[in-house]
This record gives sequence, structure tokens and C-alpha cells, in this order.
Amino acid sequence: MRILRLPGVHRPISDAWMLADVLRGELNGERTRVLDLCTGTGVLAIAAAREGAEVTAVDLSRRALASVRVNSALNGVRVEPLRGDLFEPVAGRVFDVIVTNPPYVPGPTRELPGSGIERAWYAGVDGRVLIDRICDAAASHLAPGGVVLIVHSSVNDEQKTLRRLEASGLEASIAARHHGALGPLFAAQAAELERRGLLHEGQRDEDVVIVRGQR
Ligand SMILES: C[S@@+](CC[C@H](N)C(=O)[O-])C[C@H]1O[C@@H](n2cnc3c(N)ncnc32)[C@H](O)[C@@H]1O
Repeated sequence: MRILRLPGVHRPISDAWMLADVLRGELNGERTRVLDLCTGTGVLAIAAAREGAEVTAVDLSRRALASVRVNSALNGVRVEPLRGDLFEPVAGRVFDVIVTNPPYVPGPTRELPGSGIERAWYAGVDGRVLIDRICDAAASHLAPGGVVLIVHSSVNDEQKTLRRLEASGLEASIAARHHGALGPLFAAQAAELERRGLLHEGQRDEDVVIVRGQR
């Protein structure tokens, strides 16, 4: 896959590639309608389109959607790019698979950044603002049997994600987990994350976790 990135658009890192692998495993020929929320360069949307899925990709950023257009053309696939806040541009529509690598880095404030590259990273003081909104709304955008896949860090607490998906009526489980050193944006504020109780004292590792919810 060839992926270009416009300035100001988040570069796909290991969490995105890990999620792309799990996503491919869910596209069994029957699950054809895919929604990529917080698409960035479109890497996950394009991975699904290359498997033959009919893909819609949503992002708040105009530059991200321009990247999606360029990258779909480069890879010879069709993706429907829509601009807006999470599920708002797909109101009333359902999908077989919803895949998302949302902003999940704990930020300096409760408020989310309104623009800039920080909007791709920060998600409130515990990093869960977008994750929680996605957990609460996903069920109403899934066809029967449909699946939502969310990637985030164990620092965000995957048990909270599992409980939130279950509370919305989905069957929730961990689809994949990878243990490693804290990512650079977490490591740079490790002392503050310890102060907030998000890291144990001296903890400098995390799991990247993919949480799966099925309707
Ligand atoms: C971590 S990046 C992920 C990019 C890509 N999915 C990947 O895996 O590489 C998060 C993306 O979410 C977008 N975003 C942030 N808040 C959003 C919102 N409320 N609705 C839609 N997209 C949002 C950002 O513009 C950014 O492109």
C-alpha cells in the first residue's frame, strides 16, 4: 500500500498497521460496508477497499480528506470521504464493520484542540473523550452481526471500553494486544500521567489494544 501524507495530517504508526491486520481478518466476504472513523491519511479505509469492501471514511480535517482522495487514487481504490464529527456525516446509515484509530493521547486540558496536528492526538485528560463517544454510538450504526474495532492504549483502560460497549448492547472482547515501551507522546508526559493516576509509579510501558464489539 502506498500512503502519502499532507502536512498537518497524522502519520500512520504501528497502532494503525496492527488494526489494519485485524480489520482484514474481519472482512470475510459478507461484511462489505465499512466505516473508517477518524481516517487521517485513509490507511484503514484503503486497506478495507483493497479487500473489496465498500468504504466510507470520516474525518474533521479537510487536509485528511484531501489525503484520502490522493491515497485512494494512488492505490486504485474507491473510498467515500466525508467531513464531520464522528458519526454525524453518516446519520441514519449502518455498516458491517466500523474501524477507528481515534485520538487517545491524554491531553493538557479537558477541552479538545480545535485544529492543528494536536487534534489528531489529544482526547481530554484521560484520552477517552472520543473513545467513549464511539462506544456509545457504534451499536446504532452496526448492521446485525456487525463489528466495531477500536485501537487505543492500555493507559486509556481497555476494561472501561469493554464495559462501555457491553452497556450499549454489544458483545465485547479484546481482539489483539501488543506490549511495548510507551509511545513518544505518552513518554514525554509520563510524570504528569503518573500524577493523574494513569500510569503506575515508574511505569514506562503500555499495551496497544484492539477492542472488538459485535452486535
Ligand atoms: C490518530 S489519527 C488516526 C489517523 C488514521 N486513522 C491512522 O490510523 O493512522 C486521528 C484522526 O482523527 C481525526 N479526528 C479528530 N477528532 C475527530 C472527530 N471528532 N471526528 C472525526 N475525526 C476526528 C483527526 O483529524 C485525525 O485525522
